[in-house]
Amino acid sequence: MPFALSPERDRELSEILTRYPTKMAACIPALHLCQDQHGWIDDEVVDFVSRRLDLPPSHVKGVVTFYTLFNQHPVGKHQVWVCRTLPCALRGAGDVLARCEKKLGIKPGETTPDGKVTLRTAECLASCGTAPMMQVDKDYYENLTVEQVDAILDALTTGKPLKPKPPAPKSSPLGSAGPFGGADVKPSSPAAGSVKPPSGTGSLPPPVPPPRPASVKPPAEKPSSTPPPKDEEKKSES
Ligand code: FES
Repeated sequence: MPFALSPERDRELSEILTRYPTKMAACIPALHLCQDQHGWIDDEVVDFVSRRLDLPPSHVKGVVTFYTLFNQHPVGKHQVWVCRTLPCALRGAGDVLARCEKKLGIKPGETTPDGKVTLRTAECLASCGTAPMMQVDKDYYENLTVEQVDAILDALTTGKPLKPKPPAPKSSPLGSAGPFGGADVKPSSPAAGSVKPPSGTGSLPPPVPPPRPASVKPPAEKPSSTPPPKDEEKKSES
């Protein structure tokens, strides 16, 4: 049976089409709508979108194969994307991924035998300031610790609701190197606000003149290049 959107989603697609100057421009949101319903994009979905948007199937297929957000194979009920790009890698993404692999018993690209979770890796998900992080379905989980990874995966596999996400303050470049280890980097200068200004000088300390390098001596006074007038010259002038 050919793929078709539910009446409700079909109405949504009609509304989406009004927002774009051409049908081709609505290809990505149309595919997302289909994937939300079907779970992945197979050839029947490609046919549906190409007919609905008056596009060649090759164009739709090209979009599907270009963007990793479109599933080209059946996936689990939940998708876990672990970001592995440099900022996350420096703050423990490797440990997050290893924990996911161990707890789920699968490698990236695989789905648990019960069909509940598909594990994937992703390149930068634009949340580098809260690394390490991962995306679960459409939600971000940031500043991850081992305990949080365990709790998230437990909730996904048992069907329990996930606890509210913890707030995600940005990681300080001078703060902890992450929950998975690494030495803290302490600021080498006093923290802002800890320096007291001298009394009576306002909020700023007085400017200190830069020291003169010891090796540079002040230039010696040059003898004048014009010789003093001779006595005879002085007399003739007078
Ligand atoms: S590197 Fe992970 S979100 Fe940017």
